[in-house]
Amino acid sequence: SAKKIAVLIGSLRKDSINRKFAHELIALAPASLEFEFVDIGGLALYNQDLDDEGQPPAAWTAFRDTLAKVDGVLIVSPEYNRSMPAAVKNALDVGSRPAGKSIWGGKAGGVVTVSPGGVGGFGANHAIRQSLVALNVATMPAPEAYIGGATKMLGEDGKVNNDQTREVLRKFITAYAAWVDKNGPQ
Ligand code: FNR
Repeated sequence: SAKKIAVLIGSLRKDSINRKFAHELIALAPASLEFEFVDIGGLALYNQDLDDEGQPPAAWTAFRDTLAKVDGVLIVSPEYNRSMPAAVKNALDVGSRPAGKSIWGGKAGGVVTVSPGGVGGFGANHAIRQSLVALNVATMPAPEAYIGGATKMLGEDGKVNNDQTREVLRKFITAYAAWVDKNGPQ
């Protein structure tokens, strides 16, 4: 049966180029993957008191329940000040607690960073990978996906406007499907 993949978008704005690239990636994915966009913008900042007092926000619980059921997590994110956006770090933190009840372990991770700038969000990509190591998410090492100059690769319809970029995305998501099969929950 199809493997379930949660897609987390690191940008909360409606015209996000990261969201556009995530849709393009999904459109090019093999049928063995089934995707669900999971909102991270509605997660309150992590505060351990709320778990300790047995009153976690409903959005935390919904996020944890959804993520607990998936085989993989695909993070498509901008770079903020050479690191990951706070929204992404917060989602990773919320999913990692309460201690001993992290929902991350054993999942198959994928990281894509998208930027209008030339460096393609390298700093964010590796900051995310650093935390995924701590969370025991088996993150696909290659192919890497630092999508720089990304605004020029999108048409007015928000879709990728050239075959070369489409091929890069297809290769990434095809490799990720194989990675999930081998390294996700069996
Ligand atoms: C940015 N941007 C940015 N870009 C980059 O390549 N490296 C960086 O370190 C930063 N830093 C940064 C900080 C903050 C707070 C913002 C809001 C933006 C620019 C960023 O790549 C650009 O706004 C993208 O369009 C954001 O992605 P979305 O929202 O289009 O998906």
